[in-house]
Amino acid sequence: MSNSPNSQRPPAPGSPISVRPPRKIAPPRNARATMVSVKDLSIGWGDKVLQEHLNFEVARGEVFGILGGSGAGKSTLLRFLIGLETPLAGEIDVAGRGTPDLTKGLPPFGVMFQAGALFGSLTVGENVALPLEEWTKLPPDAIAAIARAKLRLVGLDGSSDKFPSELSGGMKKRAAIARALALEPEIVFLDEPSAGLDPVTSADLDELIKTLSKTLGLTVVIVTHELESIFAIADRVIMIDRETKTIIAMGPPKDLRNSEDQRVRDFFNRTPKGS
Ligand SMILES: Nc1ncnc2c1ncn2[C@@H]1O[C@H](COP(=O)(O)OP(=O)(O)OP(=O)(O)O)[C@@H](O)[C@H]1O
Ligand SMILES: [Mg+2]
Repeated sequence: MSNSPNSQRPPAPGSPISVRPPRKIAPPRNARATMVSVKDLSIGWGDKVLQEHLNFEVARGEVFGILGGSGAGKSTLLRFLIGLETPLAGEIDVAGRGTPDLTKGLPPFGVMFQAGALFGSLTVGENVALPLEEWTKLPPDAIAAIARAKLRLVGLDGSSDKFPSELSGGMKKRAAIARALALEPEIVFLDEPSAGLDPVTSADLDELIKTLSKTLGLTVVIVTHELESIFAIADRVIMIDRETKTIIAMGPPKDLRNSEDQRVRDFFNRTPKGS
């Protein structure tokens, strides 16, 4: 077929049917963009290497799990990914903007730290409003309205004026996720969001994370060791190992059940709790 402009010539004047030449519809910008890219990353301090030769990419809209034993460096890896620490070597790119630099304006991500407790002296709404106060010049009533909307998004409608002590564990986690979403980030980093929750509350939280990812197109990087959560929500995972100090498995969780690596197989074939 000819690509010459004449092949899409408009109809002659007076022609009964007005046919517009088909327009090329560009795919949505960054539709399949890489949201996190890590190349040959080494993390640690001075001559203490915690993890090295880390290579992975997270695609837009993906729920990406970071797994590994206690002390392997999962939380630390998150701190490097969001620019709180300087890599020993290698490259990090988040949302196509290089290594996050919190001194250069609004971050493209939200975070829920492992010990990311809400401030007990502030209401839930005020907690969610904090990033908006820090990063925007919006008037207080607009900030309060956004905070309420974010709380509604995570199923905490009407909790804005409560204090954290009035919320259950699961509700607190939801509020912390609302705070991570306050600035409408393209990507959120969640460190063990379901730690300490009962299985039902934990499953509800998984459902929320999955819904946020599917409906908002949110990219989620989640640290967890809950096997049920991993299978329920993670599209792909990496597993980092404390002894070998690097990634020992990468892929969809169900594929890793048959990994050639005994450590990986053992992790993915644990008997789920309650069965
Ligand atoms: N700023 C730091 N300086 C030196 N060592 C650190 C620093 N931060 C963390 N570490 C060490 O890095 C190691 C990994 O800690 P990290 O909290 O990342 O593990 P983790 O995989 O998240 O474990 P867990 O599953 O228990 O949360 C630990 O031995 C910790 O003591
Ligand atoms: Mg941790």
